[in-house]
Amino acid sequence: KGVALKKRNRLPFDAVAISRADAITVPAGYRASVFVPWGTPISGRFPAFLEDASNSAQDQAEQVGMHHDGMHFFPADAQRGAGKRSNHGLLVFNNEYVDAPLLHPNGPTTVNGQRTSAEEVRKEINAHGVTIIEVRRGQGGEWQVVPGYLNRRITAATPMQMAGPARGHALLKTLHSPDGTASRGTQNNCAHGVTPWGTYLTCEENWAGYFATRDADLPRELKRYGLRATSRFGWDTLPGDEFQRFDATRKAASAEGDYRNEPNHFGWIVEIDPFDPDSQPVKHSALGRFAHEGLIFAPVQAGKPLVCYSGDDSQNEYIYKYVSRGKYLPWLRKPGRLLDEGTLYVARFNADGSGNWLALDLNDPAFQAACTAAGVSFADQGEVLINTRLAADIVGATKMDRPEWGAVNPDNGEVYFTLTNNSSRASADAANPRAANPYGHIIRWRENRRDHAGKGFNWDIFLLAGPQGDSQGPSGAALDERNILASPDGLWFDPDGRLWIQTDMSGSQLASGPFGNNQMLVAEPRTGEIKRFLVGPIGAEVTGISATPDFRTLFVNIQHPGEGSTPGNLLSTWPDGPGRRPRSATVVISREDGKRLM
Ligand code: FEO
Ligand code: CA
Ligand code: CA
Ligand code: CA
Repeated sequence: KGVALKKRNRLPFDAVAISRADAITVPAGYRASVFVPWGTPISGRFPAFLEDASNSAQDQAEQVGMHHDGMHFFPADAQRGAGKRSNHGLLVFNNEYVDAPLLHPNGPTTVNGQRTSAEEVRKEINAHGVTIIEVRRGQGGEWQVVPGYLNRRITAATPMQMAGPARGHALLKTLHSPDGTASRGTQNNCAHGVTPWGTYLTCEENWAGYFATRDADLPRELKRYGLRATSRFGWDTLPGDEFQRFDATRKAASAEGDYRNEPNHFGWIVEIDPFDPDSQPVKHSALGRFAHEGLIFAPVQAGKPLVCYSGDDSQNEYIYKYVSRGKYLPWLRKPGRLLDEGTLYVARFNADGSGNWLALDLNDPAFQAACTAAGVSFADQGEVLINTRLAADIVGATKMDRPEWGAVNPDNGEVYFTLTNNSSRASADAANPRAANPYGHIIRWRENRRDHAGKGFNWDIFLLAGPQGDSQGPSGAALDERNILASPDGLWFDPDGRLWIQTDMSGSQLASGPFGNNQMLVAEPRTGEIKRFLVGPIGAEVTGISATPDFRTLFVNIQHPGEGSTPGNLLSTWPDGPGRRPRSATVVISREDGKRLM
């Protein structure tokens, strides 16, 4: 095997140098072209993007959203799962949040910190969520949006259903949904997941910041998630039900009379069927409520439970695993139900390199004992799930350095997770070995007996990110100029078992660190080799990656180029050039000779 690996160069390109250019840089022999930037018309009246950002809220609902993130290419023949078509399919991606100064002609209008324009806030709501577009590859390898009926936007106002143990729970009852079964919208959708049956999962990450509550004594399901008196964009400061729902302050005698429970409708994994434009998205409460970064599935086997993993991207939060009660069968008519009945576990990483999956389940004796010992009670499993973080605290899970994306190695089933950084760790532990971790690391584990549904695993650290003097690559050697990186975030295995790593540096690390702009690298776990493949434009995060089945097209997302820009001070003008507002966009990468990427 070693000889065969040496014969074929698995990373057949010259590493891209660190760069601070306002451009995409890829290796010689590859090309990168911009596709579907924010504002691209996709449906309805196909309203053209207006460069002064004067498109209306309704226009925005018919255009690509802002701040592209997690993404998947569904081959056109993938309605029931894996498809093979590479020239035609659906591209589905998250629109995590907005840069309000760039979304409006002159930034958001406020008076004394209050929003005054319903139209502006509606545009912000419509720029969030998910974009679904039908796409086709032409003879020359170029991609186009097909103006088909499947194209649609899911926004922070789209009607949705709640499913799983928390559906109908008293803590989900609101003025909008007196029976606690209906939700409105999804927001702060960071990474994603793809089910074995060909649906898209969007993950609600920093949703808590969208709500305000002025109550002095917050209930645990709000307090543990960091709700505050003021919200990120001030949507709650406008009158009317569509905005007041973001104000969780107690106002009425009963929960059905106000929006105190509205935040409990967020922090979930949301399933979207991209092939059915009439379908309502479904929030699967059995997968837990936290700052979900993404969701990844272990390889499925007919007759075995479905297993998936998800990280809670916040400082000192946890990594979770879900195991379905029912068995996966490829011919199931409603496989989504497998995401509604099962057990949620949280990870404990022991100092000796072993690990345990700890059940967060009221029927589990160890969980019952932990609740008793902690003096915490839950009325039912729905309440456990609404308070997932508290349940994980009780069982003694390991507090991690901000878990971001995960990926499963197709060669051997090993699970990799990025831990992006952590500036508030109390003390180092084996799995988070830096007391202050500005650079982040990548952890991996192997489930005992390769059984993803099991309760034990063994872990090690795959990579310690950082500069040349303070890092360790997959080979054990320090990183060098070909591959230094910091704040790893996006993670993906290609079909040939290479690991692609995307970075999300910000602040001084991005402005003046030794790493240049955010980047994407490729690692070969079998040899420990790692090389930088792409560098993004100024102020952008590189996040979101998917490929066509023939591996001739790679889709990569560029989020928030020129972050911090205002209309009068553009810090980046990517991708449109001088004088024009920066726009998040997908980048299509191919080889100049049109062959497989590697
Ligand atoms: Fe939205 Fe954890 O990155
Ligand atoms: Ca991320
Ligand atoms: Ca991040
Ligand atoms: Ca981001």
